[in-house]
Amino acid sequence: MHPTLPATAELIPGLRSLNPVSPLDSSRSDAVAEALSGTGWCVVEDFLPADLTAALQTRAAALESKGLPTQAGIGRDGELHLNGSVRNASIHWLGSTNAAESAYLGIMEALRGALNRRLFLGLFEFESHFAFYPPGGFYARHLDSLKGARNRMVSVVSYLNPNWTEGDGGQLIVWNAGEDGQEVARVSPKAGTVVVFLSEEIPHAVEPTHRSRLAIPGWFRINSSTVDRVDPPL
Ligand code: OGA
Ligand code: MN
Repeated sequence: MHPTLPATAELIPGLRSLNPVSPLDSSRSDAVAEALSGTGWCVVEDFLPADLTAALQTRAAALESKGLPTQAGIGRDGELHLNGSVRNASIHWLGSTNAAESAYLGIMEALRGALNRRLFLGLFEFESHFAFYPPGGFYARHLDSLKGARNRMVSVVSYLNPNWTEGDGGQLIVWNAGEDGQEVARVSPKAGTVVVFLSEEIPHAVEPTHRSRLAIPGWFRINSSTVDRVDPPL
């Protein structure tokens, strides 16, 4: 059973009317929460309104023309490995000073609240970056969070590419949780499509792309300083 959810983009107000508290229809965030507690992943087409994907594309193009994205590394906890055999893409982190980025972060903030209410995950913050894959770019199979590290809990990857066809490559491959998990989806990185999955559980990969490919991977994190803290003695 393919857990692709129905498109309800018309329920999300356009960019001009976005505000950080209510840009997300609750039936839609409920469906995402249900998928996370079931299979651990879902694909939602037309999750992002078209004017927002257009504004984010424009923003990304401006960053690229200024040469701002930097080659992505692999690793965590400050251990950064530049390794072209695992990932070939450049990144630029999102912030709140740009209107398009800020509108996107507003939607993610609403999703964070909804997931916390439904799943009691204690998601504390969200971090995300533009990912620019040149023709030939890819990302080998990986998990977004190591078990035990407990920082990245839920991954969200949004796509910004208009008119994507099967022949353009660059599909996101999703496997079921577990070492011998079945391949369960191949997702075209079409503008507006969003994939949400459990960071510690769901292996995924980006097939080599034949066109420039633009994505916004992001992660809801728990407050690891609280989780890891040993209570002080009385
Ligand atoms: C990632 C990732 C997928 C994509 O950045 O961790 O898996 O489609 N990205 O860009
Ligand atoms: Mn990933």
